[in-house]
This record gives sequence, C-alpha cells and structure tokens, in this order.
Amino acid sequence: TKTDPLDSTDPQVLDYMLVPHRNFNLINGVHSPDEVDQIQNWEIRDSDIFAVTYPKSGTIWMQQILTLIEAKGDVTPNTEHLNAQLVPWIELIGSEKEFNAAPSPRLRVTHLQYKFMPLAIRQKRGKVIYVARNPKDVLVSYYHFHKYAAMLETPKDFNDFFEKFMEGKVFGNCWFEHIKTWYANRDNMNFLYITYEEMIKDLRSMVERMCKFLGKDLTEEQMASVVEHSTFRTMKQNPQANYKTVPDSLLDHNKGTFMRKGTIGDWKNHFTVAQSERFDSVFQEKMRDLPLSFAWDIN
Ligand code: A3P
Repeated sequence: TKTDPLDSTDPQVLDYMLVPHRNFNLINGVHSPDEVDQIQNWEIRDSDIFAVTYPKSGTIWMQQILTLIEAKGDVTPNTEHLNAQLVPWIELIGSEKEFNAAPSPRLRVTHLQYKFMPLAIRQKRGKVIYVARNPKDVLVSYYHFHKYAAMLETPKDFNDFFEKFMEGKVFGNCWFEHIKTWYANRDNMNFLYITYEEMIKDLRSMVERMCKFLGKDLTEEQMASVVEHSTFRTMKQNPQANYKTVPDSLLDHNKGTFMRKGTIGDWKNHFTVAQSERFDSVFQEKMRDLPLSFAWDIN
C-alpha cells in the first residue's frame, strides 16, 4: 500500500499512470480498483454531503464553500488545513476507514462516475451537489493541470491533449458520459445541480442556493464571510486553499498554479476554429437527449 499522496514526498509517487477499471481510468498509486469497488457498499448517513465534479470544474471551490458553510463563515479551518484534507476524495486509497471513523457531517468530493457511488444515495440518503463547467474551459484547465501535476502525463502540446480529452483518455474519462450519467439519475438522489459559470456570475446566490439545499440557516454576517472567503482572489492568497503547501514532487509549482485564472471562456485563447467547431458538433450530438440547458455559451 502507498501513503496518501498529499502527505508524501516519496519519489515513488511519481510512478503514476492511468489504469482502466470498469471503463473508468483510475490513477495508479492514488486509487485502488478493489477499494473503489467497495465504495458502493459504504453506509451513508443522512448528513453526508458529496460534491461531485468532473476534474477542473470547481472541486476546490466546493471544498472551500462547503467547509465555510459548515463553519458558519469561520475561515480558520481553511487556513490551517488543505481543502483536500477538510473535504477528502472518497476514491483515494485508504478512504473507507477514514470515512467510517469520521464524525458527522462528512463532507466529501469525488470525480467518480455515478455507477461507483454508495448505493444508499439511490435511497436518498445523504446529499449530492453536482458542479458542471463549460467543457471547453474544463479541457483548457485540465491541459494546464497536466503540465505540473506529477501524477498525470505531461501533454506533448495542446493539440495532443485536446485529442486525449475528446477520446476520454484522461482521469475522469469522457466529460459527456460523466455529466449524462449523473444527471440522468438525478431523481434517485437528493440532488443539486449547479454550474461553475453561475458561481462566477453570482457567487452569493449560489451559496444561498447551496445553504437552502443543505438546510443551513446563516446570518447575514456569516453569509458575507462565506462569500468573501470563496472568491478567487481570496482563495489564491490562501496557500492552503490552492495547494501551495503541497510538495513540488506532486505539483510542480514552477510549472503551474492551481488557482490559475478562474475565468469563463479561456478556451477562446487556446482552441483553433477547427477544434471549436469539432467540439461543438460532438457536444450537440452527445448532449442531444439531455433535458438540460447550459449556463454557458458554448460558442
Ligand atoms: P482554471 O484552471 O481555469 O483557472 P478543480 O478544483 O476542479 O481542479 O478546478 C480548478 C479550476 O477551478 C481552476 O480553473 C481554478 O482556477 C478554478 N477555481 C478554483 N477556485 C475558484 C474560485 N474561487 N473562483 C473561480 N475559479 C476557481
């Protein structure tokens, strides 16, 4: 067994690669297929909260907001611990033991597809918040992340990564599949669907929506503090909130920054016209049956 990569400076952790498992790519050394298969049997409490994202869609943002809501706007936990420690991934090696022992409420994130989740969420135990982001911006953010994340293969160039993303040859696999399977099952769960773009445009309203869904009643002052400490500007300045304290052997801070741009539409600075058109036609085709209007302008 390997140690939690977030706590480790072991050069061994560089020895990562994608391992296909039930049509989903896991990361060797970070995830264990057997442990991932156990997740569906986990016992769920009604107070459990799962934020679900395709990678680079606002995971760290949800970790920040959920923690702040729980702490009623007190930012102390977020200055003392990594977001990934406050709101851990359920798919990391060793998570089950930690999950079972954790006090309520258990705040968790995952990039997994719906089929791997604890079956109890289908009996409306716990709550699920799915965050979606314009997949073109996801692709760009993911491209930059691959350049400095040691556990992921460094892309040859943008074009190379574009092809990998379109083929789903990345952790998270096919973006279209991820959102479709989660959204198609929304009525089985206590489910809130929000988008990165809505959070950018009106963070306060989105935090209010989350509080309502979670049954949290914050005072005006507490609400203002949650919002203030969840802005891109504030989070970027907090070393814990953007992985600045993680060793270079995991995230090479000379090659990239986790809190990179935090904007809508950066894809326009990366995609060629041909790539954009190709992406649009795949998007139209794959998303045809989904009864979902998107908060972003795909063009
Ligand atoms: P960019 O690379 O486009 O800047 P994840 O946490 O799922 O890996 O997503 C990371 C992306 O979310 C990065 O996008 C990061 O900048 C952005 N992000 C994180 N916190 C944010 C915030 N408070 N406001 C806006 N964007 C944020």
